[in-house]
Parts: sequence; C-alpha cells; structure tokens
Amino acid sequence: MSDSFYITSPIYYVNAEPHIGHTYTTVVIDTLARYHRLAGEDTFFLTGTDEHGEKIAEVAADRGVPPRQVADEISGAFRSAWEQLGFSYDRFIRTTEDEHIRTVQAFLQKVYDAGEIYFTEYEGLYCVGCERFLTDRDLVDGLCADHERPPEARVESNYFFRMTAHFEWLADYIENHPDFIRPERYRNETLAMLREESGLGDLCISRPKNRLEWGIELPFDDKYVCYVWFDALINYLTGIGYPDDPGFEPRWAVAEHVIGKDILKPHGVYWPTMLRAAGLPPARHLNVHGHWNVDDRKVSKSLGNMISPLVMKEKYGFDAFRYFLLRDMVFGLDANFSEAALISRINADLANNLGNLASRTLNMTERFADGAVPSPGEAGEPELVVQRALPVAAERVDAHLRKFEFHRALEAVMELVDTVNRYLEIRAPWKAAKDPELADQVATALYTSCEALRAVALLMAPFLPETAPVILERLGLPDALSGTRLPDDAARFGALQPGTPTTKGAPLFPRIEVPDGDAD
Ligand code: MSP
Repeated sequence: MSDSFYITSPIYYVNAEPHIGHTYTTVVIDTLARYHRLAGEDTFFLTGTDEHGEKIAEVAADRGVPPRQVADEISGAFRSAWEQLGFSYDRFIRTTEDEHIRTVQAFLQKVYDAGEIYFTEYEGLYCVGCERFLTDRDLVDGLCADHERPPEARVESNYFFRMTAHFEWLADYIENHPDFIRPERYRNETLAMLREESGLGDLCISRPKNRLEWGIELPFDDKYVCYVWFDALINYLTGIGYPDDPGFEPRWAVAEHVIGKDILKPHGVYWPTMLRAAGLPPARHLNVHGHWNVDDRKVSKSLGNMISPLVMKEKYGFDAFRYFLLRDMVFGLDANFSEAALISRINADLANNLGNLASRTLNMTERFADGAVPSPGEAGEPELVVQRALPVAAERVDAHLRKFEFHRALEAVMELVDTVNRYLEIRAPWKAAKDPELADQVATALYTSCEALRAVALLMAPFLPETAPVILERLGLPDALSGTRLPDDAARFGALQPGTPTTKGAPLFPRIEVPDGDAD
C-alpha cells in the first residue's frame, strides 16, 4: 500500500454556478481524501476552476463585461461554495494564475522543442459548447449531440499536437494496465475511440488571437493562444509544482483523477498522449463516474433543475446530501435524484438506523450508567457477534473505498449499525435495567454499544464529516479523529475507557415528515 495519495477534481468551468454534478465529483474526492488522511497517508486534494476559452469569452461578451470579471465572480462562487460545504481541498487552483500560465508555457515549449507540434491549415465543424472541432460521430441531425446546437464551419491555420502518433502506445498501455481507466466500460470506450478509423485526428491546440484573446499565449507564436483543454489538463501538474518542485515526482506517481463520463475523451486520450510527449507517465488511475439526472431528466440550465448544493445543505444538512449522493449512485453508472428519494434515504438510513443507534445508546448510558461508559462484564455470544462485526466492517470499508465502491462501503457500515441495533433488541437494557440482578448485563450491553458506536463514527468520518465528530464528542472522545488510523482503529474492539463521560445531545438526523407520509 502506498503512503502517499494525490487526488484531483476536474476544474470547473466558470460559466455556471455549482450544481449537483460538480458537487458529486467533489464529494467523491473529499470522501476519499478524508479516508486516506485517516489511513495515515500523505494526501493532497486538488480542485479549482477552468477559466479560459471561448465558452467564457462568449458569456462575458453576452454580459458586456471583461472575461476576467466573469472568471473572478464564478471562480469566487465555487470557492465560497466549496468552503461552505466544508470540502477539505489542499489547493484551489485557477487557470488564470501566473504560476499556471508559466507551467503551461513551459510544457508547450518542451513539447514543441520535441517536434510534437506542427502548423497547418484546418477546415471543420466547431462546437463552442465542446470547445473543439466535431467529428461525424459527434453529430446528430447536424447538431452537436451534447449541446444540441449547430456547429460552425471554420477554416483556420493552427498548431497541432501529433496526438495520433501516440495512439498505438496508448492502446497498448491501456491493454496492459487494465485498471488504468475504471470502471471497465470507460476503458472499453476509450479503446474504441483510439481504434475508430474515421475518428480522432491530431489535436488542434491553438486559437488565433484575432478571434479569441482569452487564453494563454503560445510561447513560440504570440499571435495565438492555447486551446482551453490543453491548458486546463496541465492544472494537474501545476497543482503539485511541476516542473521544479522536488515533491512533484512522487506525488505524480500516485495521481488519481476523478471525472464525469462526458470528459472521458480529453482525459482518456488527449491527456496521456500529451504527458507522453512531455516525457511524463500517465496518472495512476482515471476514475470515471456517470451522470446524475434530476427527476429522470438531464441536468440543464434551461430546465432549471441544477440542484444547488447550498440549498440542499440549508434544507437537509450537507452530511445527509453527501450520504445520499454516495449511497444512491453506483460509481460509473448514471443515477436519478429526486427530493422524495433523498428524504426516504435520510429517514430510513440516517434517522431510523444510525441516528436511532446513537440516541438509544447515549440516552441509556445517561439513564442507566450515570452518563459514563460503564465497565463491561464478561462477553457472551451476542457480544461476540458485535465484536466480530467491527473488523469485518472496517475491512470492507477499506477495500470498497480503494475500489471507488462508495455505496458498498456505506452498506458495510450500515450493516454494522444493524448488527448493533439487533444486539440491543436481544439484550434490551431498557428492560434489564429494572432488575438489579442484571446490572452486569446492562453495563456490558452499554459498553458494547458505545464501543460499536465509536467504530461506526470512525468509519463514517470520511462520509459524514460534520456528524462523526459530534458522535465521538458525545462518547467523550472529542479528539479521537486526530490520532486515528483507519481501518485498524475501527476494527479493534475495546478502545473506550470505562468512566469516560458521555452526553446524549439532540437527534443527529431528525426524521423528515412529508405531507403524504410515505417517505420510508
Ligand atoms: N472544465 C472542464 C473540466 C476540465 S478538467 C481539466 C469541465 N467542467 S464542468 O464544470 O463542465 O464539469 C465538471 C465536472 O462536473 C465533470 O466531471 C462533469 O462530468 C461533472 N458533471 C456535470 N454535470 C454532471 C451531472 N449531471 N452528473 C454528474 N456529474 C456531471 O468539464
């Protein structure tokens, strides 16, 4: 296992406010970054904004303001949203930063000097939404399939990157590293792109300044700016100090990219070939997720169904929304969001199960053990069932998270919660407490459930970063997360010291009542 972890988000275009799609990608990354930190790995989480290109220039022109103003505003909105949502990124990069501009120019010069770039005339159909020339495959009834708008015919002299020269190498690389692009369906999709005969040609990497000024100037021709995707992808290098920072190489060696399926081509084809031209290896993994639909429709500005994460936080708490996003999407496949589904998930898993376990455990510890973790007596078979469930859950969470199987990791924690709730039904301390002869059994039951709750809180910490510390604090462990090593500390039964003071506190996830009352 590596003790270093570098994870990147796509950098977000500054033409739309943060919505459910951006939020999902970032929640996935934040969860992994938190887990790997708790596993003791030296973790770096990079996110930011993608600010150049025609799309932004168009928005600015429509509003009659300079592109930089649009970029500053929307980049600021992302940054502020990411802060309010508590994402634990280490760096928020902007492609308009001087450092990034220098890195892109150094990269371009290196690739140019290596003979990987040539100048020629090109004629084709260009989609401003995609920021690229389209191929026949991208068109449906003459419209761009993604943006449903007609492309423009363009003839231009431009600089091209000899991308196709690396296709054979890339196809071999993908074949020989079967988990480089995962899940598998996206690996196959990328291989199909590389093999398709009519498909991809060399990559046009420049835009003449007389048509677009909003970009990074080419270091070898000041009449051109760099194509926005070529500029944007390099952020993954700038973010960790390429080329000069001595920390760059070891971090790059463990790079994990997380992207949505709509940006597979630039990440699966352009980026590995660009890196190779610059003498760098590909990232370790390209992790590709599906799309969220909302009420069974594609998310779009025109439908106004973008779902603001800040509104979700306000209404339901952000931990609950995170839980839903990770639990209801199988990473790699599409999923559907509806507020009714969110509410049923909150009620079933968080209020009835997790919240119930925490409140009954802490309430009974207050009532029957004077608000302090009691000393356990001897463990019987029901206790052993709980004790054995801890390492099973901890190992499953670790294994599933390392494979991006978030829904399964959460299932594993919730199965532990179920096991403890069933255990409490068996021992029924609320009944046993009435019989003084069963005092030892009550103490054992409360110790066992407090201890299992501690493990649940540790395992939930990456998923529910606001709630887990509250549970630990109520268990008298306010600093538990700072010294924790996952998965081991959640697997080991018996860490709680008898006598530790506990507090019961308010319900963690109050049940959400809906008018027709059918939300669970
Ligand atoms: N700027 C480029 C990325 C450059 S990375 C070098 C970009 N930006 S974006 O803002 O349009 O999208 C960012 C991410 O949000 C993408 O990974 C995209 O897949 C994701 N999502 C946008 N809408 C989405 C859904 N409806 N569902 C899930 N994720 C989707 O692309």
